[in-house]
Parts: sequence; C-alpha cells; structure tokens
Amino acid sequence: MSVGAPERTPRLAVVYDRLRPEERMLFDAFERGGIDVVQLYAPHQSFSFGAHSLQPFDVVLERCVSHTRGLALARLYEALGCVVMNAAHVIETCGDKLATNAALGRDGVPTPRTGVAFTTEAVLDLCDTFGYPIVLKPVVGSWGRLISRLSDRDAVEAVLEHKEVLGGPAHKVFYVQEFVHKPGRDIRAFVIGGDVVAAIYRTSDHWITNTARGGAASDCPLTDELVDLTLRAAHAVGGGVLAVDLLESEDRGLLVVEVNHTMEFRNSVATTGVDIPLLVVRHAERLAREIGERRASARAAVAAGA
Ligand SMILES: Nc1ncnc2c1ncn2[C@@H]1O[C@H](COP(=O)(O)OP(=O)(O)O)[C@@H](O)[C@H]1O
Ligand SMILES: [Mg+2]
Repeated sequence: MSVGAPERTPRLAVVYDRLRPEERMLFDAFERGGIDVVQLYAPHQSFSFGAHSLQPFDVVLERCVSHTRGLALARLYEALGCVVMNAAHVIETCGDKLATNAALGRDGVPTPRTGVAFTTEAVLDLCDTFGYPIVLKPVVGSWGRLISRLSDRDAVEAVLEHKEVLGGPAHKVFYVQEFVHKPGRDIRAFVIGGDVVAAIYRTSDHWITNTARGGAASDCPLTDELVDLTLRAAHAVGGGVLAVDLLESEDRGLLVVEVNHTMEFRNSVATTGVDIPLLVVRHAERLAREIGERRASARAAVAAGA
C-alpha cells in the first residue's frame, strides 16, 4: 500500500483529487491552526488488501471532486480503521439524490414532492400528479448540471428520449420533482458536526441558483426554523461536515432539496464572516484527538488485563 504512513503516524490526512479554492483554504487553515496534516493526492493512492498497516491516520478528510473515487477511498480508509469524514455511508447517501430522498423521507424531513420512474409513461403520470412545470434531475450530479425545468408533456418526452438514447445507465433512472416557486434564491446551510455554523442565500435571475452557475451569495440569518431543519436533514443522512440546500416554498415553508457531502464554501467565508475552513479543521482535530485517546485507553485496558 502506498498511503505513505510514516514512522510516527500523523493523525490527520486530507485526500483530494483537485486543488479547488476549498482545498487550498483547508490546507491554509491547517497551517493557521498549527495542525499537522498529510496531503494525499487521490489518483496516486493504491491499496493491496492484507499488505498494509492498520490505522495509518485517525481521521481522513475526504475531499474528492469525483464522487466515485471519493466513495472508493472512503471505503478503503475505513477498511484500514481510519475514521473518514464524511463516512462512506454518508457519501453514498448524499451522492445519490434518490438515497437522500429515502433518508430524508424516513426521518420526516420536508422536501419537494419527488418521484422516480423508469419509463416515459410512468414519468408523465408523475408529472400529471405533481403538475407543470416539472423538474428532472440526474440522480448523481452537482453544480446544477443536467437539471431541466419542463413546462409540458412535449418537453418531458423530448428530454426523456434524449436520456434514453444518449444517456448512460444512470440516466435511465428518471428523478422527477415538483417545481418549487421560490423567491429568486435558495439557501445553503453549513453543518459541522452538530452545529449549523453559517448559511447563505444564493440569488439568481435563473431558477438554478448554484453559485457554480452564477448565483450570488449573501449572508442568511440562522433562524431557529432553519437551524432545526438543517440539523434534521444532516442527521437523516448520517451527519458530518455537510452543506444542506433548502428552498423557501411559497406555501410549504422551508424544504430540503439536497445534502452535499463535499461542501464548497469559497463564496461563503467572506460573505458570512465565518471561518468555515478553520472550523472544519478544528472539528477534524477534535475528532482525531478523541479517537487517539479512546485507542490509548483501550490499549491500557488490554495491558492492565494482561
Ligand atoms: N424542485 C425545484 N424547484 C425549484 N428550484 C429547484 C428545484 N430543484 C432544484 N432547484 C434549483 O436548482 C439548484 C440545483 O438543484 P440541486 O437539486 O441542489 O442539484 P445540484 O446537485 O446540481 O446542486 C437548486 O439549488 C435550486 O436553485
Ligand atoms: Mg445543490
């Protein structure tokens, strides 16, 4: 295995595949906090089962842009006994909108009305139930890509035909959602452990308000309702370091639209005045220290019993 665990095992590592502003901000926060961290470039990692030392790190922060690679690495580091932030099961749930809806639904977290179907006819039935316009999304995706708002049956049929003929297997699971009439913005709330640390409005002339698509970030006050719903959503998907996207429905109040497990916050630090990367790093350090202490007392207990 080439994870490069040195003699004196460092407690914290970050695995990443692209140095986005967020990863740079996190590494900078480790430096500012005086906390040692090992940088693991994901494409250079390799694992050979049974041929490696266990627990090379206490905590591994998973920051891959590639969902597939991030999930694989989370599973592998967990198999080595590391705590991965976020845990593989959380990545699995958040990386798949269908799994997210299942988790949110199980916990009674309010979401837009959502359905899944596998044929055009079944999708059209769902559209009739939800009413037009309707939103179609890929089950796995981000940055507002390949999301469509469709205003009638003709448009739905056209998009589904394209998906069926041109799309890969993942695009043949049709994810359908009611269009939520919202006030030209959505909300992104940041969760670190058990706390909502900040939130932003993302405002746009376009109905897709992701900042990656030109949405403008501004500070959003943390109301009790927002904090409560955000924490319920985070808890439903397994908790960790998460960004929860919410819509302000005209008639139903706040609705959770998705939960992001590799959160982007480049536009949110100056906007909110909250040092999100430093809070993430401090959280990881706290977790690593707790784990280290737990392991030491377990070793001491074994030694005392021997
Ligand atoms: N059902 C909906 N009704 C209204 N706007 C929506 C709906 N779903 C998504 N949006 C808009 O599109 C954006 C992207 O949707 P989201 O489900 O978060 O996908 P992504 O994973 O690509 O960010 C949201 O932030 C919101 O602005
Ligand atoms: Mg989103």
